[in-house]
Parts: sequence; structure tokens; C-alpha cells
Amino acid sequence: MDALPVVLRRLLPEPGRVTAAEALEDLAFAGLASDHRPYLVLNMVATADGAATVARRTAPMSNPADRQLFHELRMHVDAVLVGAGTVRIERYRRLVRDPRDRERRAARGLAPDPLAIVASRRLSLTPDLPLLADPHSRVVVLTASAAELGECAAQVSYLRPAPGAELDLAVMLARLRTEHGVRSVLCEGGPNLNTTLLPAGLVDELFLSIAPALAGSAGARSIVDRTPLVEPVNLELVWLLESQSQLFARYALRR
Ligand SMILES: NC(=O)c1ccc[n+]([C@@H]2O[C@H](COP(=O)([O-])OP(=O)(O)OC[C@H]3O[C@@H](n4cnc5c(N)ncnc54)[C@H](OP(=O)(O)O)[C@@H]3O)[C@@H](O)[C@H]2O)c1
Repeated sequence: MDALPVVLRRLLPEPGRVTAAEALEDLAFAGLASDHRPYLVLNMVATADGAATVARRTAPMSNPADRQLFHELRMHVDAVLVGAGTVRIERYRRLVRDPRDRERRAARGLAPDPLAIVASRRLSLTPDLPLLADPHSRVVVLTASAAELGECAAQVSYLRPAPGAELDLAVMLARLRTEHGVRSVLCEGGPNLNTTLLPAGLVDELFLSIAPALAGSAGARSIVDRTPLVEPVNLELVWLLESQSQLFARYALRR
């Protein structure tokens, strides 16, 4: 984590200057959950020409303000949802590592560590992945596979459909709400998982960080990728921040 809080320019709705913590302090996602599923916000980064990866990673598109907003969003949710591909490539670790941040979460009435929810069809996640190797991680794996992960230090449980049934993320999210009390979920991608969540109407907001760079065909993946969307998903801009020419847009999804 970068040591000093970055001050961002707020461009919309009214001009001002805010830190990441200030920009997000009024978020109250849990209160927006329905009885049937958690409130779900998606956080993604892309270059100005829409690439979701540069050399298969997100780090080249990030800057200090982006990192602070990325971590600050984790301060406001019961759970973080991520696709197995991203867990593998980005080497996911314990979600909130700074003890002061865990205290801040607890002061908000949240568990010190958010629940990590990993969607996987093949269950090809090795126990040496930092997230799984940490005994503090609480991980729920969404899968239709009857297999289990190898022995690992993390506290792992599984949420599965009935034997022989397809994994339906809408059903899984509903069960996370009713069986695990999850009210708010931050999805951190990746592009493949997004192709299921978005058309199913499971995303309520998109936080999109737009890096001041063009990747061309080297970063040919977009933030919703591998299966085309049948219909466009329409967005409404809630606010817009800027730091070092990187834009941070918060959008509500139009139904
Ligand atoms: N720009 C950004 O903000 C951003 C954010 C995150 C990641 N990324 C980048 O995106 C790349 C990884 O993304 P990705 O699209 O390849 O992977 P991903 O979406 O993170 O994960 C894909 C995997 O998740 C599982 N999965 C996806 N949809 C599922 C569903 N409906 N039900 C059950 N399991 C499901 C499958 O796991 P199994 O393979 O285990 O079966 C699938 O292979 C990396 O390069 C990463 O750096 C970019």
C-alpha cells in the first residue's frame, strides 16, 4: 500500500479534492441489498482504448490513486468475488493485510477480513496460492465440481449446485445472501467471470479506472471478455475522479 493518501481531483458531480477514503466514505452497500441477493459492485481497470490487461497483468495500468481506491473498496463489503483465472494470474493474497484496515472494517460493523468468494469450474487452484496458503483467509468456492482443493491453510468451504446441475451465479449469490448473510459483494473480475454476471443482471454498479495509456492489440482483452454480450449494458455516471491523468468513474447500471 502506498504510504500517504493521494488527493484526487473530483471532476463530477461538483469539483473538489478528495482522498480515496473520503471519496468512498459514504458508501453503504449493505443497506442496498435485497432479501434475495447481495448488492454487487464491480471494480475494473482498463486503458483508454479499452484493454483490460497489459502483458496479462493489471499492474501496468495502475497508479497510486488506483491502488488506494482498489483497497479502499474492500473496506466496504462483506465479500470479494473473483474468478479463478484472476486468482491464479494475479496471485491473490489475504484480502486485507494491514491490521489498521481490519480495525477500520470492524469499526464499520464488518468482519475484519472480507469473505473471499472464488468462482471456478475446474477447481484448478493450488494450495500454494497465497490466498489459500494463509490461515486467515476465509474462502468460499463456487463450483459445480464435486472435487475439493488440496489441503491448504485457509478456511475453505464450497457452495455447489445440486449434483448434475449447472452452476448458476444468480442462485449462488442468493444462497450467499441467505445462507452466509452476505449483503454486499465487491467483484474484482476478471473479464471472463464478468460475462456471466453482467447479462444476468447481477451487477449494480461499476467502478472503472481508466488508465492514460493505449495498449493496442497487445492488450486485446476487454473488461467483459470471451463471450459476447447479447445486448449492451447501459451505464449512468455517478461521479468522476482524476489523478495523474487516470480517470475513476463510478457508474450505476441502468436496468
Ligand atoms: N482489468 C481488470 O480490472 C482486471 C480484473 C481482473 C483480472 N484481470 C486480468 O484478467 C485476466 C484473468 O481474467 P480471466 O477472464 O482469464 O479470468 P477470470 O474471469 O478471473 O476467471 C475465469 C475463471 O473463473 C471461473 N469462472 C468464470 N465464470 C464462471 C462461472 N460462471 N461459473 C463458475 N466458474 C466461473 C473459471 O474457473 P476455472 O478455470 O478454475 O474453471 C474460469 O476459467 C488476468 O490477465 C488478469 O490480470 C483484469
